[in-house]
Amino acid sequence: MGKAQQNIVILTGAGISQESGLDTFRDSGGIWSKVRIEDVATLAAFEKNPQRVHDFYNVRREPFLNGNIKPNAAHYALARLEEYWRVGGLGAVTIITQNIDNLHELAGSQNIIHMHGEILKARCNGCNAVLEWLDALGGDEACPQCKKTKSLRPHVVWFGEVPLAMERTYQLLEKCHLFVSIGTSGNVYPAAGFINFINDHTKGLAVELNLEPSAGSSEFDQTRYGKATEIVPSFVDEIIEKQ
Ligand code: APR
Repeated sequence: MGKAQQNIVILTGAGISQESGLDTFRDSGGIWSKVRIEDVATLAAFEKNPQRVHDFYNVRREPFLNGNIKPNAAHYALARLEEYWRVGGLGAVTIITQNIDNLHELAGSQNIIHMHGEILKARCNGCNAVLEWLDALGGDEACPQCKKTKSLRPHVVWFGEVPLAMERTYQLLEKCHLFVSIGTSGNVYPAAGFINFINDHTKGLAVELNLEPSAGSSEFDQTRYGKATEIVPSFVDEIIEKQ
């Protein structure tokens, strides 16, 4: 009889990518201290001034196009955990990330849900195609699939829009034995409510790994504070050593 299955769900936020050089949103000097959400991260903003929204995401996409942004030790530790679990047949390891960067992919993780979309993809409002987009978006390009012009938008979920893959996400949360929240301030729903879902629906262990207590830190069974590149690898070492 193999070891009991241990399904692990890992929620990540901007804090896991901070040491790779990417800004977070709500830390001092964060993205929302420089630009207003309602000007660049809502459908209304896009309809009112599409170029301003395109420019905001073009600036954020650019560093990825010249290979300047690399995964850090925290991303690699999660990829190592997923690989160890897969090789040992120990259960599923899934990352549900709020981040639109591709650093989990670059670090080698495979089971990833980008609930807020991806900066390196565009979506067509005409045919709903989701396309890899490794260039600036200006809005007058033609959709490669339906040829419609002025129909492409960043494949990013804006405030007020429904995050992606929510049904699958809650199915994974329902079946998880270990929930780990990394680098998120717990301010934005539905991600901020995952810990409550876990506590209400599972007997899983919930762990928060963050630079400082998040808004939901009191809901977790265990909390560890420090830089992700330090506390995430040591946490992964610990749970692998316990196997
Ligand atoms: N190591 C660990 N944690 C860190 C680090 C670090 N080096 N640097 C920052 N943090 C923590 C901060 O303490 C904070 O709690 O990461 C968290 C980042 O919080 P936010 O900036 O609010 O980012 P996030 O929680 O991912 O935001 C969620 O809000 O704006 C929307 O769509 C956007 O996906 C984003 C969502």
